[in-house]
Amino acid sequence: GRPRHVPRGRAMERLEVTETFAGIALPGHLHTKESLQFATTFPFRDTDVVIVTYPKSGTTWMQEILTLLYSRGDALPAKTIPNWERAPWLEQIHFRGALRDTAAHRLITSHLPARVLAPLLQRSKAKVIYVARNPKDVVVSFYYFHRLAKFLPDPVSFDAFLQQFLEGTVHYGSWFDHVKGWLGQRQLLDIFYVTYEELHQDLRGTAQRLSTFLGCPLGPETLEALEQHCSFAAMRDNAMANYTLIPREIMDHSQGRFMRKGVVGDWRDHFSPLQNALFNRVYQEEMRDVDLSVHWSM
Ligand code: A3P
Repeated sequence: GRPRHVPRGRAMERLEVTETFAGIALPGHLHTKESLQFATTFPFRDTDVVIVTYPKSGTTWMQEILTLLYSRGDALPAKTIPNWERAPWLEQIHFRGALRDTAAHRLITSHLPARVLAPLLQRSKAKVIYVARNPKDVVVSFYYFHRLAKFLPDPVSFDAFLQQFLEGTVHYGSWFDHVKGWLGQRQLLDIFYVTYEELHQDLRGTAQRLSTFLGCPLGPETLEALEQHCSFAAMRDNAMANYTLIPREIMDHSQGRFMRKGVVGDWRDHFSPLQNALFNRVYQEEMRDVDLSVHWSM
């Protein structure tokens, strides 16, 4: 059924300090003027590999896949190093400390919109991997994440959150602007587009295409290990990937899991017919000029 107002049990205080950047609200405990300044002047190297996503689109999954790809299937890094150190967040305060400068290929993650980040990336030959997900599943996942993450506003109700998502007033900004902005970079960057749904449908095939894009060979054993360690079940149980290491003041683990469901089409259990009609209307309006090579079953 549809979530109505869900009692939150022992409600914990929200951190809710917001940093505003380029018209977008970002969690203030991770982003500062300085960290954002550093991000937007960062000298990318040609060998850098940058994962770019709108939140809840498969970021963590891609971080794990690239970890296994570059370790040639050795699970040790994935099991011993937290993902935010393996593929640190460009715009966050911990970035400078976490970045492994000696790595042959530095893995970097970002949620920043194209209008901010793409011009900077265009100055290098850095490779970009853009992961997108059906926005209906994104909004459901994001709603549950807001209940868990004390650094995001209280979502109040799914209906209220959905409105804000469609207006683009949620943290990290508009999904539509993010996707359209990055889709517009096809000719300007060395960019690989992939959807969460493709990862679901064919993890092997996608890993093979990624290996070609990155010029990183992928033997059958690596592929085997990658499939195993990047499955939802394995990642849900991997403390270095599932965010259970984050203290409860920041993520209230009693309110849900970061590795929540990991399925395609969960929106069908959450959207009312009215919400679906509204969503479709906004989607068609926003995306009418977009040539999507992917299509989600809406
Ligand atoms: P759900 O909330 O729908 O379960 P991000 O990493 O961009 O924040 O995205 C988080 C979403 O990706 C969550 O979605 C999470 O469960 C899902 N996810 C993470 N790893 C996954 C995997 N190996 N397989 C399927 N889904 C995965």
